Amino acid sequence: MAPRLLLTGASGYLGSHLAPLAARRFELYSAFYSNPDRVTAGTPIGLDLTDGAALERALAELRPDVILHTAASNRDAQNCEAIVPGARALAAFAHESGARLIHLSTDLVFDGEHPPYLDDAPPCPIMRYGKAKAEAEAIVAELCPAAVIVRPSLIWGLDPIDRQTGWLVDGVKRGDRVTLFTDEFRCPVWVRDLCAALLQLAARPNIAGPMNLCGPQALNRWDFGTKLLAALGFAPGSNVVRGTVKESGLVRSRNLTLIADRAKKILESPLRSVDEVLVAIS
Ligand SMILES: NC(=O)c1ccc[n+]([C@@H]2O[C@H](COP(=O)([O-])OP(=O)(O)OC[C@H]3O[C@@H](n4cnc5c(N)ncnc54)[C@H](OP(=O)(O)O)[C@@H]3O)[C@@H](O)[C@H]2O)c1
Repeated sequence: MAPRLLLTGASGYLGSHLAPLAARRFELYSAFYSNPDRVTAGTPIGLDLTDGAALERALAELRPDVILHTAASNRDAQNCEAIVPGARALAAFAHESGARLIHLSTDLVFDGEHPPYLDDAPPCPIMRYGKAKAEAEAIVAELCPAAVIVRPSLIWGLDPIDRQTGWLVDGVKRGDRVTLFTDEFRCPVWVRDLCAALLQLAARPNIAGPMNLCGPQALNRWDFGTKLLAALGFAPGSNVVRGTVKESGLVRSRNLTLIADRAKKILESPLRSVDEVLVAIS
């Protein structure tokens, strides 16, 4: 019998890519919060990570062998509120039951002032979302030391377009003024490479602790945005402008260059650069 996998955030961007792949190897339960129509595979289950009692009941009933916890992003305040309670409940259950836990964190647990960040770099968040994710990481490490805590950089894809690229494309189409920072660096990871990495981690219970999952190419927001616009056939007009975080006055982690040494050593599938992926899919 196939092992049972609980995928939280199955209705999210990453989750909707992961579900059809996970369903090939696992008996898949796909948890959503408010968007059941976005579940792409598996048995859909409604789950509110902030409702501790309901979550405990659902876990006791499902008894998953593996939990891929992708829910609770920075999409809105509701998502952010689910970060800490969800991590606590899932980590406690995983430790008690022996389930494999893959917990999704973020590169935003770092301040962006001391790059590059290695796999074992200690969190030093400056933004609210990063602080909640850093708290969740600490809880997971304490309650379930066998869990793997992955830190993806920006997750991108063109089929369908990820949320941030979608924002850029919509702005270009409408002729809005769109500012892309030249002093904010990330190491974008293609959603399909990330899915392959996560499914390998699901099958390798001996891997624990923090792991960066990112592409090998640090790009600023301008270079990243204009590359994707070009790939989508848009020529950015004069409404798309360069700017800096510094000038904007916003509190944002600026240089989140990560090094994915652990993933490179352990994983069989590649984590490719934006340029490599664009060539491969063109
Ligand atoms: N996107 C990125 O660039 C990026 C970068 C680094 C790390 N990450 C991390 O990677 C993971 C996936 O990101 P994503 O962009 O795919 O997220 P997303 O598209 O914003 O999806 C968030 C998911 O969380 C679910 N959710 C929200 N509140 C919930 C609650 N109270 N109880 C249960 N589920 C709840 C949502 O369900 P409904 O839609 O059904 O409401 C949705 O499935 C997240 O953990 C995020 O922090 C993302």
